[in-house]
Amino acid sequence: MSLRGKVAIVTGASRGIGRQIAIQLAQAGARVVVNYSASGGEAEDVVQAIIEAGGEAVAVQADISKMSELEKLFAEVDSRFGRLDILINNAGVMTCEAVAEVTEDSFDRQFAINVKGTYFACQQAMKRMAEGGTIINFSTSVTGAMLPTYSVYAATKGAVEQMTRQLAKEFGPRDITINCIAPGQVATDLFLTGKSDELVDSFRRMNAFGRLGEPEDIANAIELLTSDKARWITGQTLRVNGGFN
Ligand SMILES: NC(=O)c1ccc[n+]([C@@H]2O[C@H](COP(=O)([O-])OP(=O)(O)OC[C@H]3O[C@@H](n4cnc5c(N)ncnc54)[C@H](OP(=O)(O)O)[C@@H]3O)[C@@H](O)[C@H]2O)c1
Repeated sequence: MSLRGKVAIVTGASRGIGRQIAIQLAQAGARVVVNYSASGGEAEDVVQAIIEAGGEAVAVQADISKMSELEKLFAEVDSRFGRLDILINNAGVMTCEAVAEVTEDSFDRQFAINVKGTYFACQQAMKRMAEGGTIINFSTSVTGAMLPTYSVYAATKGAVEQMTRQLAKEFGPRDITINCIAPGQVATDLFLTGKSDELVDSFRRMNAFGRLGEPEDIANAIELLTSDKARWITGQTLRVNGGFN
């Protein structure tokens, strides 16, 4: 129970990787805020699973791409728990499109959620996070590859990696670490939706183990970076991808 007494926000924790992170942080003793934008029923299921396992969690709705909703999320955490120690900026969206097909709406939506949402959540953390805190942003291992249809999504995550590097020097004086996790292909809705079995198989063969990542593979890395042993690691991007690139 290494995180006992700590309060963690996991954005986009109703499904996929965020769900598993919320469950594992709660198992480690943290009180967890399960953020979601649309999947309220699934977020409540995550909270229920945590409580049944003896943990503490609450679901809070907020579309992280909207400043007013982000402020409401952090204010609610303040009033409920009175502290914030861990922020996992996991919420994200991906639309795979060839350059000729990309629309202004899809470009703006991906930047609004992946970049703007992550940035202003970091700003909220700067105002409220306790000393000794931890922020983990989400990139993708695709930033280290060259793949058709990923140009906009990879650009948003490249921006997240860069903001993480620059922000490390602003958070350091407050004794807050900020890093990026860059997963490879993980078997969630985000990766699987719209892909043929053949395409999924080809991604499976691109890493060293010949399987897709599971949410637990990523949540385990989050546990490493939130441990006291990781206090000298900041401004870095950790590729958690089974050797994809
Ligand atoms: N899966 C992969 O292969 C992979 C690889 C590399 C990086 N990643 C990154 O890992 C993170 C998690 O991905 P995932 O695969 O777990 O995706 P997922 O299964 O699609 O889940 C996405 C989560 O984000 C939430 N979300 C989406 N838009 C939101 C918004 N505006 N405000 C608040 N929450 C929002 C969703 O909740 P609602 O349903 O309530 O909107 C959901 O809980 C993302 O940042 C993604 O880019 C994933």
